[in-house]
Amino acid sequence: MIVLGVESSCDETGLALYDTERGLLAHALHSQIAMHQEYGGVVPELASRDHIRRTLPLLHQVISEAQIQKQDIDAIAYTQGPGLAGALLVGASFACGLGMALDKPILGVHHLEGHLLSPLLASQPPEFPFIALLVSGGHTQLMRVDGVGQYQLLGETLDDAAGEAFDKSAKLLGLSYPGGPAISKLAESGDPAIHQFPRPMLHSKDFNFSFSGLKTAVLTAVKKYPPDMSESDKANVARGFVDAIVDVLVAKCVTAMKQSGLKRLVIAGGVGANRQLRLALNAAAAKKRFQVFYPELEFCTDNGAMIAFAGAMRLKKNPTLATRDFAFNVRPR
Ligand code: KG4
Ligand code: ZN
Repeated sequence: MIVLGVESSCDETGLALYDTERGLLAHALHSQIAMHQEYGGVVPELASRDHIRRTLPLLHQVISEAQIQKQDIDAIAYTQGPGLAGALLVGASFACGLGMALDKPILGVHHLEGHLLSPLLASQPPEFPFIALLVSGGHTQLMRVDGVGQYQLLGETLDDAAGEAFDKSAKLLGLSYPGGPAISKLAESGDPAIHQFPRPMLHSKDFNFSFSGLKTAVLTAVKKYPPDMSESDKANVARGFVDAIVDVLVAKCVTAMKQSGLKRLVIAGGVGANRQLRLALNAAAAKKRFQVFYPELEFCTDNGAMIAFAGAMRLKKNPTLATRDFAFNVRPR
């Protein structure tokens, strides 16, 4: 079965073809980062318009890369939500129109399920069950995953998501959008002894997170410097921030591993690309004797491959999920 995946929930247009027998056949991505950069964040209306421009050329690209015909597609999976309503509507209506034209069924996929299952696209995928830390721009969740569709939420952020904390703190330091990779890079040259920022909820007895206080601590620190803050002062703040957020994420993962007794931890979502987080998790895993799995770097952030894959896994379990009732519906929240 060949599933086309269409991702358009935010600022990347991603299309991919996943074959349940041969694996990932092709994937193509257009990132809108450069377009949104001058506004310091994603402009929803511009995002929607750009998705419209990109989707069809990306479809042609994956079809040609996979060396198949459009008619070889068995089903079309699109991101149904969460995300920006207008952006989601582009992917959903595209999937719907293509499904009608080709007479192929369509299926809405939860964006977070895409992220959650993305590590299974790696060459050495984890087996079920595992604990998953999902850290993206919009979500921070710890989950127990027993199989496709068998997810138990252990805890989540009570305010900002981890990626949001990275982006907002980076903005306070004058770094451009998206700030996650930029603040992480800057932190590498920072002195860890200068700023000891709070580690919110580090010792709470649950698996919830809270990052808005950390962002406020960064703001308070930045305000103590003159407006033309030096690069090394910025690097020290960045380092303090990254150390704090990584400490909290790692500590909650370690507790979840201990309490569940499971031996596999999976990291998914854009922040999963973070170098400091990966190094700290690898060290904790070696010490506590569990394994950590990451998606390929290109599948950490939004992409079509994870949507094609999640759709294919869902359909493998229950082929009736795909429908020729082309009344599509998006769920921004
Ligand atoms: O999963 P994703 O592409 O989109 C959402 O579904 O939200 O995640 C985007 C988030 C952004 O906040 C971005 O700054 C963050 O992931 N991110 C990073 C890194 N790469 C992306 N944060 C820290 N370090 C990185 N290397
Ligand atoms: Zn995402």
